[in-house]
Amino acid sequence: MWNLAVAARLAAVQQVHLRPVFKAKCVTFVSLMEIVKCLHLKARGEVYPCSEVLRFPVPDDKVDWAVPWTNYNPVDYTAPALLKQPSWADPPYRNPCGRTGLKGRGLLGRWGPNHAADPIVTRWKKEGGKTVTHNCSGKPILQFVAICRKDNKEWAIPGGMVDAGEKVSATLRREFGEEALNSLELAEAERQGVKELINLLFEAGEMVYQGYVDDPRNTDNAWMETVAMNYHDETGDSVGKLALHAGDDAGAVKWMDIEKEQNLYASHTHFLHQLVKGRNAHW
Ligand code: BGC
Repeated sequence: MWNLAVAARLAAVQQVHLRPVFKAKCVTFVSLMEIVKCLHLKARGEVYPCSEVLRFPVPDDKVDWAVPWTNYNPVDYTAPALLKQPSWADPPYRNPCGRTGLKGRGLLGRWGPNHAADPIVTRWKKEGGKTVTHNCSGKPILQFVAICRKDNKEWAIPGGMVDAGEKVSATLRREFGEEALNSLELAEAERQGVKELINLLFEAGEMVYQGYVDDPRNTDNAWMETVAMNYHDETGDSVGKLALHAGDDAGAVKWMDIEKEQNLYASHTHFLHQLVKGRNAHW
């Protein structure tokens, strides 16, 4: 009853590690299932090393996660030495900001930090070619490209999750292209043009924020972290003039005035506050 994914993984392991052993012993045929069981015997040994802790016994036919087993009740154990937090050990996956009232991963794929990236594309608000200043603060008004998220209808920065092995700089470009310019649905020639423009603008970004995000999906054991970068079109002549089209996870897109009254998704209002302070814009 080994599922296909396990079988494929183990076939690969077998090729790398086991073939010479089998050759030496002249084994003619060993089923994949037997190999799997051999590989996973010590890891089911009764007493856990350097302790008196006894594992919950797991029979051969219950090893596979795909086999339902409601009574499975594995023993929870972390060696006392690890609880003293030596420098080489991972900290426990505990939300660094404290309790959230929910354990497990909720909607998040990874234990611990789940990484996102947020491109904040800005321009100065203009009317009749002139920069608009706010009548209370007297400061120029910044605008940023905002999307309305399809999942919860909240306005947000067009960010997204960093894919495994992806550089954050690539995530920033990809997410902006997909959500604010609908690049996934453009014809190839147009897509190339948009890509070049984004590459040009995204060459010079400034980091606005890096770290924990107050995201509604966070739990005690899994939480969001992000890198928020600002790409500013000072003259408004490049991306500032682009036709915005919502795509992918975005239901709508627009240039939004930055001001403290805007209630945005997660910690996005906080990122924008950091940004306007740096550019001495209206808040
Ligand atoms: C969003 C980002 C957000 C992050 C943390 C991601 O799903 O796309 O914009 O900053 O979650 O809330």
